[in-house]
Parts: sequence; structure tokens; C-alpha cells
Amino acid sequence: MSTLTATHIQDAAEAIRKQTPLVPEVGLILGSGLGVLGDYMDEATVIPYASIPHFPVSTVEGHAGELLIGKLAGRPVMLMRGRFHMYEGYAPEQTAFPVRVMKALGVERLIATNAAGGINTAYASGELMMIADHLNLTGRNPLIGPNDDTMGPRFPDMSEAYSKRGRQLARDAAAQQGLQLQEGVYAGLLGPSYETPAEIRMLRTLGADAVGMSTVAEVIAARHCGIEVLGISCISNMASGILDQPLSHQEVMETTERVKTRFLQLIQAIVPL
Ligand code: 6GU
Repeated sequence: MSTLTATHIQDAAEAIRKQTPLVPEVGLILGSGLGVLGDYMDEATVIPYASIPHFPVSTVEGHAGELLIGKLAGRPVMLMRGRFHMYEGYAPEQTAFPVRVMKALGVERLIATNAAGGINTAYASGELMMIADHLNLTGRNPLIGPNDDTMGPRFPDMSEAYSKRGRQLARDAAAQQGLQLQEGVYAGLLGPSYETPAEIRMLRTLGADAVGMSTVAEVIAARHCGIEVLGISCISNMASGILDQPLSHQEVMETTERVKTRFLQLIQAIVPL
């Protein structure tokens, strides 16, 4: 059953509007270790999630839990530093709630980022991957429950979950910067344990190039309400069984630190397009 309704979305949007007159065009969700992008904003209003009505509060290390509204590359943006994962115990509709608040505030495009494990053996840790498409393997969906027809259709089309236009923009921006950008399919799993080597072989057979524990619910909610989506994964490590070494959240954080500059450049180039 849906407990977060249009009224809750409006409450949250109104509380945010009271803090800043800026109308965000682009929404950004920053994955583990990628929150630094917020430091490059101008005139940022920082709003802790805890101060926004009905907003969940994030709990993972490397996720600050604040909303920033300001300008990035000259454009009005709303940036989430820290997101809500289903493995934390949040319902899928809670992970999608901030996206719906973005829509209520005027956001038309979403740039969703994450740290992901590389499954494609041609990838290396530290590379960036534009998400061409996803596999929702979480077993959940944020649209379960009564549908609000004013928000979007009961059975939304997902044939261009990640917009063709957005993908071309990312390709062009990367090429212009001489930056290597992989393109691949992101498999979203529930987590929080990382996969076994057998699960990674299965995912490769299914067509996945990278794997993570976020993004898919947010993207489904965004497409439902008509937001255009661009997704960028930072390949923070190779998935299990590919290299002869264990996986750790520590490695995820160290790699994102190393990738930071390229990531910042790419996102800042894409935002105004
Ligand atoms: Cl290897 N798996 C998952 N599920 N999430 C990740 C990851 C792997 N690497 C970073 N995030």
C-alpha cells in the first residue's frame, strides 16, 4: 500500500520552496563517494533531509543526507547528497519520494549517478560508464500500489528509460574532453551483500555490464512522472570472481576519490546541455 501520497510530496516541495526561490531544472542524485560535486555549486542552499517533511534519512557512510539547491555550470539544479537504498530497509516508494519532490519543484531532467561493480571484463575500476539501460533485479518496484494518474500512467513505458538524447549528450561531452566513457547495462540488485562469483557469471549471461544497489527504483519513478534520465556509473571495483581479491566498501570509496576529477568534469559539461 502506498503511504506517501501527492499530499506528502506537496508538503516536502513547499518546505523546500520556503528555503529558496530557485526553480531547479536538473536533478542530480550523487552516489557513494561522489557527493563532492555539491562543493562546485554556486549560491547553494543546503537543506538537511531531516528538516524536510516526510523525507527519509540516509544512514550509510559516504552519504551525507542533504539536499542542495543552487547553480551548477550556470543552471539551477537540485542535488541529492546521499540517497535511500532499499537494503537500508526503505520501501521502494521511499527511495522514489525525492524524485517525485523534484518533479513537483519543476525538475525536467535527472542525472542519476552511482558507484557500481564492473561485470564486463573489458572494464577496469576507475572508469566511468554511461548507463544505456538497466535490469531491475531488486524484486521490487516503486510504483506498486494505487496509481496516481495525475503523476503518470499505471503501466509506464520503459523503452527509453535512459534517454537517447541524454546518451548522445554524454557521449559528445566525453569525446570533447578526451575522456573515456563506457556504455553498458546496469543491473540493480537489492543488496546489501555483494554478489557471489556465480551470481556475477549469471548477471553477465543476462546482459549486465555493471552491478549496484541503487538507481533503478529512482529511474522508474522518474520515467513514470515524465522526467528524462541520464545515468552515470563510476566503476569502483570489479565484481566478485573477476579479480582474485575480496570486495569492500573501502575500495568503493577509494576509487571514487580517484575518479572524482573526471566525474566532476563530465557532469559539469552535461548539466547545461
Ligand atoms: Cl560488485 N555489487 C553491488 N551490488 N554493488 C556494488 C558493487 C558490486 N560495487 C559497488 N557497488
